[in-house]
Amino acid sequence: MALLGHRDTGEILVKVEASALNPVDWKVQDYGLFIPDESYPAILGLDVAGEVEDVGEGVSGFKKGDRVFYNGAFKNEYAGHQQYSRAPAEIVAKIPGNITYSQASTIPAGFLAAAYGLYAKAPLGLGLNPTVTDVKEKFKGKAAIVIGGSTSVGQYAVQLLRYLGFSTIIVYASAHHLSYLKTLGATDLIDRKAVPFSDFDAAVKKITSTPIEVVYDAVSLADSQPAGYKALANGGKMVITLPDEIKDKVDGKELVTVFGSVHPETHREFGVTVFSKLTKWLEDEVIVPNKVEDLRGGLDGIVEGLRRLKNNEVSGIKLVSHPNETA
Ligand SMILES: NC(=O)c1ccc[n+]([C@@H]2O[C@H](COP(=O)([O-])OP(=O)(O)OC[C@H]3O[C@@H](n4cnc5c(N)ncnc54)[C@H](OP(=O)(O)O)[C@@H]3O)[C@@H](O)[C@H]2O)c1
Repeated sequence: MALLGHRDTGEILVKVEASALNPVDWKVQDYGLFIPDESYPAILGLDVAGEVEDVGEGVSGFKKGDRVFYNGAFKNEYAGHQQYSRAPAEIVAKIPGNITYSQASTIPAGFLAAAYGLYAKAPLGLGLNPTVTDVKEKFKGKAAIVIGGSTSVGQYAVQLLRYLGFSTIIVYASAHHLSYLKTLGATDLIDRKAVPFSDFDAAVKKITSTPIEVVYDAVSLADSQPAGYKALANGGKMVITLPDEIKDKVDGKELVTVFGSVHPETHREFGVTVFSKLTKWLEDEVIVPNKVEDLRGGLDGIVEGLRRLKNNEVSGIKLVSHPNETA
């Protein structure tokens, strides 16, 4: 647990009310990713929402009692699965009145993976909207695909493509998500239970003859990546969220592997820009959070939650832990 009362200059100390789970939480444990051996025991949690407990010197715009959310880091004091955590104020946003702590906690990791991948300048992303401004007409008439449209990341990618004004947004997801994904901006769905990746390109061509200018692959496995790459038009751009599995590349197609985090120095400027927009975007429902399942048992509930994530038992929702309910 972060020491109560401790925060550095420019930082905010937060009592964590909600901390969402991510697939990376179990991958860190299974594959030894991101956290060096000497840093164990490690606290995880990239999606934090809570109440400001204290503000450090140099912080303006926040005070004790404010409701806030931010992107946790792979570093104990800055992680979310604990009762108190801290963050640099420049990458913290206030939670508007229409959003709960649980909902706010679904945003950081998933939203940032989508936002960096689609909007940030190369080499971080495709550079479709690096200043995060309203460019609505620019992509009118154009088509994009989100593979894994119902994933947390995919839902945010759909909404960010809608914000850009794409006329066709095809999602690859289970069919029962169609009506919900349409409310986020999807125009068409390819049923992942009925159409294997080997038939993906043909299924896309049945929906539209418009060249696919953008593919966001939120699944990014060995079968989804080549399928998305094949469907991408020459001159198109594609984001993947896991390591590159595409063997036969062509010159005319751009590929970016995204790292959706505000914490690396290279990522900070874009992160600050995005966090400065989020409160208003949520208030105006430009972006809506993922659906939530609140886990019971405080921090103890995380173990079972991660088991379900790992076994693909979570569909279209974000699991959220409440560290202060720990017995
Ligand atoms: N690079 C980064 O910065 C970054 C950041 C965040 C996440 N990620 C990675 O991105 C991936 C997605 O993360 P997440 O948190 O968004 O996942 P998630 O919400 O936990 O994913 C669950 C969803 O996966 C969908 N799914 C599983 N297999 C699928 C397939 N073959 N085709 C289409 N959909 C499929 C299921 O869809 P249905 O319900 O429709 O069946 C389910 O809704 C993970 O691998 C994660 O590690 C990377």
